[in-house]
Amino acid sequence: MRKKIIAGNWKMNKTVGEALAFAEALTPLVAGKDSVDIVICPPYTALYSVSKAFEGTSVATAAQGVFWKTSGAYTSYVSSPLILDAGAKYVLIGHSETRGRFGVAEEGLTDDLLKAFGETDAGVNVKAKAALTAGLIPIICIGETLGERKDGATDVTVADQVVKALEGISAELVSTQVIFAYEPVWAIGTGEVCAADEANRVCGVVRATIESRYGAETASAVRIQYGGSMKPDNAAELLSQEHIDGGLIGGASLKPADFAAIVAAAAG
Ligand code: PGA
Repeated sequence: MRKKIIAGNWKMNKTVGEALAFAEALTPLVAGKDSVDIVICPPYTALYSVSKAFEGTSVATAAQGVFWKTSGAYTSYVSSPLILDAGAKYVLIGHSETRGRFGVAEEGLTDDLLKAFGETDAGVNVKAKAALTAGLIPIICIGETLGERKDGATDVTVADQVVKALEGISAELVSTQVIFAYEPVWAIGTGEVCAADEANRVCGVVRATIESRYGAETASAVRIQYGGSMKPDNAAELLSQEHIDGGLIGGASLKPADFAAIVAAAAG
């Protein structure tokens, strides 16, 4: 039995004050939900405060990204040791928004501006390795764009992202430390949810890809979240699928009651 993991990705939202108010409101709502791993991913600016606020509760924190070097002359980047020092246990790696792959095409986002996002599969791999070496748990995000889905390239895109992300990572680390989040790009922030059976099928592709590299035992141990417009009213159906072991929640993680309702759905 894989323990469900529900993570709230706040993206570029919430001041320190707003984040602390959220923590205070959420704590009683999820008390006793120990059958689920609960994670909040605040912006870097609130990571330390939120980690402190959840100390002694079952809520852990994650950074929304990481750099692969441990320290040095890397202006603006944040390393695994710094993230651990801020109190986080997990880190998101390769979110579609850091890869510059958006569900909603933003006005004025030229090709040149898109380069500012710049996450690549190779970057995801070195960041995952650096996080694991430091003792942070990576949540590796993968998923196809609408164009790739229309071209019939969903499975090959996702499988390729999985293989490239895991290059050089041992079976033991994959089975005990690595988490995947399957997030169809077209379902992120759009209100468009991937049907539960299709989300389950693609999460099955992720598992089969891991199995082909590492064997059945490792594949059956890895937790795979679904992300993309998961809300209180669709969470139970998505979370009851065989290959879906949790959720990565954006919009619905900004309100304590909505996020707690999704945690409750995962607790069953
Ligand atoms: P959403 O975002 O729930 O707002 O669609 C999910 C994510 O990007 O992790």
